[in-house]
Amino acid sequence: MIYLKTPEELALMREASELVSRTLGEIAKWARPGVTTRQIDNVAREFILDNGGKPACLGYGGFPGTVCCEVNETVVHGFPSNYELREGDIFGADTVVELNGFNGDMCYTFPIGEVAPEVLALCRTTKESLYVGIEACRAGHRIGDIAQAVQQYCEKRGYSVVREMCGHGIGKSMHEDPEVPNYGRRGTGPVIRNGMCLCIEPMINLGSRNIVIERDGWTCRTRDRKPSAHYEHTLAIVDGQTEILTTFDYVEEVLQERFI
Ligand code: MF3
Ligand code: CO
Repeated sequence: MIYLKTPEELALMREASELVSRTLGEIAKWARPGVTTRQIDNVAREFILDNGGKPACLGYGGFPGTVCCEVNETVVHGFPSNYELREGDIFGADTVVELNGFNGDMCYTFPIGEVAPEVLALCRTTKESLYVGIEACRAGHRIGDIAQAVQQYCEKRGYSVVREMCGHGIGKSMHEDPEVPNYGRRGTGPVIRNGMCLCIEPMINLGSRNIVIERDGWTCRTRDRKPSAHYEHTLAIVDGQTEILTTFDYVEEVLQERFI
């Protein structure tokens, strides 16, 4: 069942998405060598609570953190831990904020210090593929149009697309219909309509597309242990236009200052 949002609900979706975007901006300040993923998780949780939100991942299906922590070969759903980020790592932070009953979901993969050029290129392509997917996400098009656009963009550049994990609808729940895969065929799947809220989240691997779920039942990593990158936005289809509700601006402001 796909829930189409009313204008009032879309206004609440915008607010939740703004708060998750600012939360990622806070995380950006801490995503540095020597900081543990648990410290980052704590910062995010406190920031969300201080701003009247609810850390929606915490306790979701038993997930033990506010932020899904994706270091290097971790694709998605890693637990916060005592692991200290190191120069050369990539760190994906994926979190969901619930505010006034609606959810905003966003992920950004941060380079930690100096990162190998081939890994930075993976991150760049993954982020670009998110925007390529967003471009294909239009009222009257189909979900498969997004899927094919993301897949083609990444595979043409020699990367592989994780199949088992998808984007999704979002609203009162963080996961609603429809599923939004990152691979597939144009012209297939549900039609994209006004009032839909969707998360597009390419998970792209440097090596093979195969993944393994660790024995904790959550942590998803690449089978070959090569790095994987992940970026995500929450979108809404409003008056025939696709509006990106989350923004990377807060994150990228912090990252730019670091390099001045
Ligand atoms: N963006 C992630 C997803 O859609 C958020 C997961 S929260 C968790 O899967 F609690 F399920 F980990
Ligand atoms: Co998501």
